[in-house]
Amino acid sequence: MRQQTRTHMLAIAGAIMLSFSFPAVADAAAPVKVDAEAAEKLARKDKCLRCHGVTKQKEGPSFKSIAEKYRGDSGAADKVLKHITEGKDVANFPDGHKELHKYDKKHNLDQLKNLVNWILSL
Ligand code: HEC
Repeated sequence: MRQQTRTHMLAIAGAIMLSFSFPAVADAAAPVKVDAEAAEKLARKDKCLRCHGVTKQKEGPSFKSIAEKYRGDSGAADKVLKHITEGKDVANFPDGHKELHKYDKKHNLDQLKNLVNWILSL
């Protein structure tokens, strides 16, 4: 394939992926790079997806609804990062019981930040 055609196709593929993974382009904040695949993988590994659906409400709110809650909040990434790394926040469950929210101290900060940015990008 000619180099030019290839570059062109890559650009199109990139544009398509962007339009799917970042529906909130209207957001004024600088776009954050998110590796959605790695984030979802970590969410599965950390068992976050047992309690949170990406779009479906389970025992915990859907990640999408969490993103909506924090839309426009410039401190969101820090708050959510603390929420999932410090284990100090009490989670209120739909059946009325409370327990400390699950946290992750095993994975490195970059991976966890990517997970947070992914959640907030939904
Ligand atoms: C045992 C079930 C359970 C697991 C596992 C779990 N969560 Fe949660 N999570 C909850 C519940 C319930 C809430 C709602 C807390 C509330 O509103 O009081 C919540 C809330 C949240 C919030 C919203 C915090 C806010 O400020 O509104 C985020 C973000 C979150 N979880 C991310 C994660 C991530 C990431 C993981 C995996 C590391 C995870 N959760 C694992 C049950 C869980």
